[in-house]
Amino acid sequence: MIYLNGDFMPIEEARVPVLDRGFIFGDGVYEVIPVYSRRPFRLAEHLRRLQHSLDGIRLANPHSDEEWSALLGRIVAGNAGEDQSLYLHVTRGVARRDHAFPEDTAATVFIMSNPLLVPPQELLATGIPAVTAADNRWLRCDIKAISLLPNVLLRQMAVDAGARETILLRDGFMTEGAASNIFVLKDGVLLTPPKNHLMLPGITYDIVLEIAVARGIRHEIRTVSEHELRTAQEILLTSSTKEILPVTRLDGRPVGDGRPGAAFALLHRLYQDYKERVMRGNGSPF
Ligand code: PDD
Repeated sequence: MIYLNGDFMPIEEARVPVLDRGFIFGDGVYEVIPVYSRRPFRLAEHLRRLQHSLDGIRLANPHSDEEWSALLGRIVAGNAGEDQSLYLHVTRGVARRDHAFPEDTAATVFIMSNPLLVPPQELLATGIPAVTAADNRWLRCDIKAISLLPNVLLRQMAVDAGARETILLRDGFMTEGAASNIFVLKDGVLLTPPKNHLMLPGITYDIVLEIAVARGIRHEIRTVSEHELRTAQEILLTSSTKEILPVTRLDGRPVGDGRPGAAFALLHRLYQDYKERVMRGNGSPF
């Protein structure tokens, strides 16, 4: 069951007019929210980032947080599986094709849910290969925009090379992955770039940093050079659907000894503990 502009229906029945600005211009924003045991994880943070994205494209939020929460709750209830991946999507609506904003056009709101397929144990045991590429995206990567053509092309470079993710470099510094944030371990210190317009402010990125603070794991939030990336002891990828994954090959060369390292093992365990605690302790956010 999906939600589209006020109605709940099977996805096969959902239709969007061809003049929707999401279809014509990619003029919209989205969120991906993991659901564990039928409870959206870090919902408040995802809704805050949605507001940031909407502000970034100057589109009024069509719903209050309470309304979003209720809509998402109905989608979770209407789909099978304890663990799900919620996708929500807001566009500037349907209007005659003109780049300038239309007046008085209602936003298009779409929500769907897919099974949450967190990485299997085999992948955690071996880690994943990644490649690097020049970050050729725009300068508002902090907006979670549906216009993802650069990310699509960059991610496909990884697939074409038999790898799983493309790590992006801009002016000699690492920004993030095509669909993830990146941490590196260098001289025993966990490094990750500061949030700014060059990367998406990841919800999982925040959790890893909160864990690092709470557990006294040495870390620095600062620019990470290409050299530091290429000589890292460990590279970690984070996202809501991948959680934490070790990158064990970069551009065909082993990262460290080519196996998932101790920092990954520790952070992965602490992340799972944290998730359990939050999901047990908080009660339903709905
Ligand atoms: N992508 N950076 C980019 C460019 C992303 O697309 C994502 C997530 C992240 C990680 O953010 P978070 O931890 O909040 O998921 C970083 C989602 C999962 C997607 O597009 O499917």
